[in-house]
Amino acid sequence: MLEGNDGNSPGAPPATSRDVSLSSPDRRSFLGVLLAVGTASVAALLSVPLFRFVLHPLLRSTTPLSWAEVGSVDELAAAASPIKKLITVEQRDGWRKIVSEKAVYVIKQANGQLTVLSSICPHLGCSAAWHSENNEFLCPCHGGRFGADGKLLGGPPPRGMDRLETKVEDGTLKVHYQYFRQLVPDKEVIA
Ligand code: FES
Repeated sequence: MLEGNDGNSPGAPPATSRDVSLSSPDRRSFLGVLLAVGTASVAALLSVPLFRFVLHPLLRSTTPLSWAEVGSVDELAAAASPIKKLITVEQRDGWRKIVSEKAVYVIKQANGQLTVLSSICPHLGCSAAWHSENNEFLCPCHGGRFGADGKLLGGPPPRGMDRLETKVEDGTLKVHYQYFRQLVPDKEVIA
């Protein structure tokens, strides 16, 4: 017999008006939608940093060239004339890591400070090389000539050899390799 019951399962207590309200289909679907919206919002917020991390290399196509080690300051400072050094620089292009070797010259100025010169001729980009017999840098392409300090001595280059930014860390000279615009009288960074 279902006597004394509101029509629910046999033996269960009769449902109150509050129970009926909470378990109504409309109420349940509203709470479900609210929960889904809240979950989606939190997930979207949490995913922003992740997407930025993942897309960063694609959004920033090419990174600046890295700092590169040139050598021991003590050893470089002991040299009497410009020393050629091959440095290894890294750059990121999207997801690709580009590693390349660049030739630079380390010179010692009159005050003993070390300076690093790019070997790329500012005329049309050939490689200038130190010639100890002439005590100057010569560019083989069009006869550009530079002094031991990199200053222009003659030929078609519009300026002297380009100096690169340097720093010393733990006794090691480091250089920030960059490319400069050619055929202009003033040094201008292009990459
Ligand atoms: S590229 Fe060096 S002088 Fe022309």
